[in-house]
Amino acid sequence: MAAHYILLMWLAFGAGLLQSVHCAQTSLPVRRITGKFVFPAQRCDGRDENDWKLFSKFHSNTQQVASRAMELGCHRRGDQHATKYTVIYQVMYVTDISIGTPPQPFRAIIDITQSNLFVPSINCTDRAQEWEVENCLYHLMYDSVASSTYQSNLTPARLHYYGVYTWGNLSQDTVHIGDISVEKHVFQEATMWHPGYMIDWDEQYDSVLGLARLRARNTYDDFHDSSLLEKMGRQNTLDRNVFAIRHPRTDADEGQLILGGVDDSITRSVVRLALVDSPLDGDDSNFIAFASAGWVVAASSLALGAYLDQDPLTIPLPNYIAVLTNGYGNMMLPQRMADQIAEYLQWDDWLDDFPCEQRDRFPNLTISLGPQQQAFVLSPWQYMPEVTDPEGHQRCLLPFDPMYQDGAHPDYILLGGSFLASFYTEFDLDQKTIGLANYTRL
Ligand SMILES: *[C@@H]1O[C@H](CO)[C@@H](O)[C@H](O)[C@H]1NC(C)=O
Ligand SMILES: *[C@@H]1O[C@H](CO)[C@@H](O)[C@H](O)[C@H]1NC(C)=O
Ligand SMILES: *[C@@H]1O[C@H](CO)[C@@H](O)[C@H](O)[C@H]1NC(C)=O
Ligand SMILES: *[C@@H]1O[C@H](CO)[C@@H](O)[C@H](O)[C@H]1NC(C)=O
Repeated sequence: MAAHYILLMWLAFGAGLLQSVHCAQTSLPVRRITGKFVFPAQRCDGRDENDWKLFSKFHSNTQQVASRAMELGCHRRGDQHATKYTVIYQVMYVTDISIGTPPQPFRAIIDITQSNLFVPSINCTDRAQEWEVENCLYHLMYDSVASSTYQSNLTPARLHYYGVYTWGNLSQDTVHIGDISVEKHVFQEATMWHPGYMIDWDEQYDSVLGLARLRARNTYDDFHDSSLLEKMGRQNTLDRNVFAIRHPRTDADEGQLILGGVDDSITRSVVRLALVDSPLDGDDSNFIAFASAGWVVAASSLALGAYLDQDPLTIPLPNYIAVLTNGYGNMMLPQRMADQIAEYLQWDDWLDDFPCEQRDRFPNLTISLGPQQQAFVLSPWQYMPEVTDPEGHQRCLLPFDPMYQDGAHPDYILLGGSFLASFYTEFDLDQKTIGLANYTRL
């Protein structure tokens, strides 16, 4: 008895000691920023071939959305209810990371579907073209000379992230995420930074904190490294190979990212969904970029509650998969389904946003996921993001985008930030699950 007791004491002491030596869990504040793509109606006059070419600099879905905005903007100008502009909002979640010894800070987008890390370089040259709103001189820049842990690599690399094209050389250094450090991480030091036409949101971030489970495949990049998360998992850096995010719901809210642990007060009510191995066949670049990151579950249906004397709308999703990302704000649906939803909600112009007081009139959205067809009910207060328009008014968005597909792919829907921000979320590398729980705003 006594021996057992001593052994237990010793184990407890040993575990406590290990915990205090290991610093393998960290918590970071998460902010939301809303990028605006503003298309002024008067641009229709100057519209030419070149405008369309410049749009091709976008991520392929954004590009389609942008050309649609242009079309609508010009169309609206001609009618008597002409608006001054059309706006596309992009919601992003950011936190701070740092690189080097001593650490140099950067603002990074938290993206569960990104692997490659990039950062503007002190070597950046001012190469902005007339039509470019930004270049890396407006950003925090990495200075390798000032870091004692820097190792040169000098392999040339090009990347494309969210409408921004970067060129540079690879470098290696220690990356710090809160109290956690990842040593010898290879990243792109960008010496050229070219945002797409009329993008102005890139000035609000310098880098990306990639939390892809598997190596994400962006077809444009010519460098493919493991994400910081994958590396932490492989090097057993974390207490537990898990992270949790509470995404803020507005630009004024503060959310939280816990790396290496979960929120103990809420983890008991989490509903867990098993990840599925997604086939990466086909050549749809959107699909490959998002699904290759490995946060994919089975989908079974999507439904909207009764609305304006209509019976509830249920869209079955047989053999569909749901790809999760916080690197894209809206939910993306096959065109046919997006049209069905627009018709049901009598939403004529899908770029229209609404005064937030009108949220009351929208129905609940139920998304059923996993082999057990677990239903996740989202009220319009959850699924309709609040944004501020260019004149400072609060607007609420319907977060459904039609998916423009550029190739063959498995049947899928994309559940973006507006879905994930409706819940407290847990991502488990070892159990291969995603967990969701309701939470009330802190
Ligand atoms: C890569 O590094 C080499 C050697 O310092 C330099 O000459 C070259 O300009 C760099 N390339 C880019 C794209 O920054
Ligand atoms: C930055 O410029 C310096 C001086 O030209 C050069 O030695 C270094 O290799 C450059 N760094 C990168 C990453 O290209
Ligand atoms: C919508 O869902 C919420 C829970 O998320 C529930 O309280 C409410 O009653 C639902 N409304 C309708 C009309 O079903
Ligand atoms: C959230 O709460 C609603 C209403 O109480 C419930 O129907 C739903 O199952 C809950 N979702 C989760 C993920 O716990």
